[in-house]
Amino acid sequence: MSRLIVISNRVSAPTPQQPSAQGGLAVALTAALREADGIWFGWSGETGETGELKFETFDGVTSATIDLPEQDVEEYYDGYANRTLWPLFHYRLGLTEFERDFQGGYERVNRLFAEVISPHIEPDDLIWVHDYHMIPLGWLLRQQGITNRLGFFLHIPWPPTDLLHALPEHRRLVEALFAYDLVGFHTREWLETFHDYVVREMGGTIEDDDRVTVGGRTIRAIACPIGIDAREFIASAQSNEAVTTQNRVVESLSGRRLIVGVDRLDYSKGLEERFNGYLRFLDTRPDAHAQVTMLQIAPPSRASVQSYQDIRATLDALSGRINGAHAEIDWVPLRYVNRGLPRGVLAGVYRAAKIGLVTPLRDGMNLVAKEFVAAQDPEDPGVLILSRFAGAAAQLTGALLINPYSPDEMADAIEHALNMPRDERIARWRPMFDNVVDEDVIWWRKRFTEVLASTERVAEVAL
Ligand code: G6P
Repeated sequence: MSRLIVISNRVSAPTPQQPSAQGGLAVALTAALREADGIWFGWSGETGETGELKFETFDGVTSATIDLPEQDVEEYYDGYANRTLWPLFHYRLGLTEFERDFQGGYERVNRLFAEVISPHIEPDDLIWVHDYHMIPLGWLLRQQGITNRLGFFLHIPWPPTDLLHALPEHRRLVEALFAYDLVGFHTREWLETFHDYVVREMGGTIEDDDRVTVGGRTIRAIACPIGIDAREFIASAQSNEAVTTQNRVVESLSGRRLIVGVDRLDYSKGLEERFNGYLRFLDTRPDAHAQVTMLQIAPPSRASVQSYQDIRATLDALSGRINGAHAEIDWVPLRYVNRGLPRGVLAGVYRAAKIGLVTPLRDGMNLVAKEFVAAQDPEDPGVLILSRFAGAAAQLTGALLINPYSPDEMADAIEHALNMPRDERIARWRPMFDNVVDEDVIWWRKRFTEVLASTERVAEVAL
C-alpha cells in the first residue's frame, strides 16, 4: 500500500496537547494517515527562522511542521492567502488586495515547502495537497524532481472566470494546477467554473470522463463533496455533554424556540445579512417575539486582517442595536457569543434548536449545515435554513433554500420554519440525514484517494 502524504497550511493531526483530532477533515485524514503510515506536513502556526521541519509522532500519526519568518506569515498567510485569494474566491472583489509583495511571499513559502518536503517523499507515496494556500506547491514539487501522483483539493469556491481575471497573475496560478494529476472541488458548480476558465482562457478541452487537457497535458478534475464524520457526530449528539447542554439551553429559553448559527467570524459567512434578516423578522412580526431567541456562536478568526476586524466591529454594533431595539426585561432576542465551543456542547446546542440558520454569501461547502442535520432528533427534527450559495445546498435539498442577501426572504423563511408541521419537517430532514451519513468524510477521502491512485503517473517532469 502507498503511503499517504498530506500537505496543508494548517496541520490538525492529534498532538499530546490536543489528543483528539479536531473537525471532520482532521478526523478523516488522521485515520487515513494512521492506516497508510503517512505524514502530515504544514505550517506550525508559529513564527520562527530555523527553516527546519519538526517531526512529531503521536497516536500513530506523524506530523511535520515548520515555523515561518514573520514577514512570510504577513505576506503569505495574512497577505496572499487571506487578503487576496480568500476574498476573490468568495466573490468579494471589493475586499481583495493586490500586492506584488503578497504574491512574492506566497511563492516563497510554497517553494520553501517544496524544498523541505521533497527529501521526505518516497517513490510510491500518494501526495495530497489542500486548499488555496498551496496552489503552486505541486508545480514546485515537480521542479524538485517529484514524479509521484499528486492530488490537489480546493476547499473554497472556484470563482467565475471574469472575476479571476482581476488577479494579475491568474494565468500563472491556474497553470500551476496542471502539475497535479487530480484536482478536486466540492461541487459541480465550482468544477464547471474551473472548466470555463480552462476553455475560455487557456484554449483547453474537457472530456466527459473528468479529463481536462491544456497544451498536451491532461489531468483529471472532479467534484467530490466533503462530508462530516457523521457517525462520530451523531454519537456526540447523544453524549452526556450534549444532553446536559441541550437541557441547559432549553431551560434558559422559557418556552421560546431557538434559532442557531455557528460560524467562524468571517465576512463570507453572511453574518451581517443574517442579523439584518433576523432584525427584519423581529421588526415585522411583533407577535413572534414571544416565540423565538437566536443564538449566534462566532469565534474570531484571522484577527490580524483588517477586513476581519471590520466585520467584528460591524457585528458588535448590530447585535447591540438588535438587542437595544427589541429586548425586554426578561428576554434578549440575540445571544451573541465570540467563542468556540467543544463539539459535544455544539451538538447539544444544535439539538436544542428548532432552526439552523446557515446563510453564507459564498461557501465552498459548509459543514455546520451537515452537523446541524446530523444532530437532530429523528422524531422531531429542526428545520435547516440554508443559503443557496453554500456548496452544501447541492446536497441538502430538503432545507429551506434562501438568498442570504434578502432580509425579507430570510424573515419569511424563519416564519415558514416556525410554522412547519412535524410531518413536513421529518420529510425534509430524512433524505438530508441519509445524505450526510452516506456521503460522509470517510467516503470523500476514499473517493478522492482512489481516483488519485488510478491516475497515470507522470513519466517525467516535462511540464
Ligand atoms: C476554511 C479554509 C481552511 C482553513 C479554515 C480556517 O475552512 O478552507 O483551509 O483552515 O477556513 O481558517 P484558518 O485561516 O484559521 O486556517
